[in-house]
Amino acid sequence: MPEQLRLPGCLTAPSPGWTTRADVVIVGSGIAGLTAALRLRGRVEKILVVTKDVLNAGSTQWAQGGIAAALGPGDTPEEHEVDTLVAGAGACDRDAVRVLVNEGPEAVHELIALGTNFDHTADGELSLTREGGHHRDRIAHAGGDATGAEIQRALIAAIEAAPDIEVIPHALAVDLLLGPGDVAADGTPGPSAVAGLTLHVIGEGERDGVGAVHCRAVVLASGGLGQVFTQTTNPLVSTGDGMALALRAGATLRDLEFVQFHPTVMYLGPDSRGQQPLISEAVRGEGAFLVDDDGNRIMQGVHELGDLAPRDVVAKAIMKRMLETGRPHMWLDARHLGAEFWERRFPTILATARSYGIDPVTQLIPVAPACHYASGGVRTDLHGRTDLAGLYATGEVACSGVHGANRLASNSLLEGLVFSRRIAEVLPAELGRWREPGPDRRTAGLVAGDVRRELQETMSSRVGVLRSAPGLAEAAAVLDKLASHSAETVDQASWEATNLLTISAALADAAALREETRGSHWREDFPERDDADWAGHFDVTMDDGVTTVTFVPSPATDGGPA
Ligand code: SIN
Repeated sequence: MPEQLRLPGCLTAPSPGWTTRADVVIVGSGIAGLTAALRLRGRVEKILVVTKDVLNAGSTQWAQGGIAAALGPGDTPEEHEVDTLVAGAGACDRDAVRVLVNEGPEAVHELIALGTNFDHTADGELSLTREGGHHRDRIAHAGGDATGAEIQRALIAAIEAAPDIEVIPHALAVDLLLGPGDVAADGTPGPSAVAGLTLHVIGEGERDGVGAVHCRAVVLASGGLGQVFTQTTNPLVSTGDGMALALRAGATLRDLEFVQFHPTVMYLGPDSRGQQPLISEAVRGEGAFLVDDDGNRIMQGVHELGDLAPRDVVAKAIMKRMLETGRPHMWLDARHLGAEFWERRFPTILATARSYGIDPVTQLIPVAPACHYASGGVRTDLHGRTDLAGLYATGEVACSGVHGANRLASNSLLEGLVFSRRIAEVLPAELGRWREPGPDRRTAGLVAGDVRRELQETMSSRVGVLRSAPGLAEAAAVLDKLASHSAETVDQASWEATNLLTISAALADAAALREETRGSHWREDFPERDDADWAGHFDVTMDDGVTTVTFVPSPATDGGPA
């Protein structure tokens, strides 16, 4: 039996040099975090939003396609539910999906009331488009292809008009502080509960460096883990910090192996790393199609929805053709949309592509799959509660169960919106007492910031779109080796690298154990979906740096393989 990988039980950090207090701390400032803050306003006394960079530096700002909800004539939440379950390849939580699709329309109307300017048709109706996996036009968009930026703008305006909500920017959440749990009537002490969190702030005056916020609840809304991979559509801040700190503190991570690779990310060459330009699925929704070097349509005959098949299906078809032809990318043909349409409907993508020397009006766009979205995350119930008393999670950091093995396009902004509203419904009545943080018995540690590149290359080549037992074993060996590269300096690069390593190890473990192909998890050695053995979830927990992965069987929720 190989020795189990030991990761830091908590991050090495200086003792807090300053402290502050808030009833609720919200970590993250995208649609999930700011919605939670605005909805909690007036229901709890002191709300503090902490964000790793500036308010709009997260993934919401980058969302292009839009936000899905049954808003159009003839559409229904039931149809949205079916599309979500089918895309999720049997691994969705049906109750969570029902919450999402039923509460979605009202939540989007609330965003509109807040001042979000969605696009409208000439008749003044909300303009709705279609993306992969949807059988209806149900994606509301703004600024053509700048939906996230417009939502983020409206939310920031609302936060700025709420002086009672305090914001600390440039604040990396380091670790949760835990206090004694409540004692049951029979005298049995309950499990530890959230008492606060430590932050590293690049700030001015008193609040600079590591500090502690004492609080009664934490809402994690800190986004995803895209920087685990070499190429991703995610911004630099997406280093899995929220998932890693929740895992270290005793929360459960679920469905981590279901990482979604977006099929049409602009290919910038073999050496391009970090955040890559997304070519929204909405471009295919408006008629663009995928071709290989010889002009053959890639998606013809692959799926009834053709170029608008669910994302996993398209990503796999592109990868398959790339392997068959030995080419590093395929092409998206959207020339027939014409200059006027491109300028009006996709101004951001047009400008970005042109900035890289490709004019989509006259040229094919080189595209290849890249990491886009973590369908798994911190396991929550239907109100964002995690396993840890006082810890809630919402948005990409969470696994509410709505995405299953493959998120349906444009369901992510909606998830953050709907589940943050639900957290705000229950949290005020559940606020626990103030707890003194107890002594932290976890073993602190830190890996060196310079492991990042090897980690990303290993994850991309061995735990990316294509996976197999030998590749996953190699990845585990590399991650094991990287875990022994202790940091000599305590800094943000090392905190992030430790978080990336923690999440990568859990993801690779779950991917190795799932011996089937399902949704966005594609095993070359197990090419079929296998409901008899693998319908269910992998849950990951950690005890002082040692993880345990448990399979939790659960019947498929999509009626079985297509
Ligand atoms: C896209 O516009 O293709 C991305 C939308 C999403 O990820 O839901």
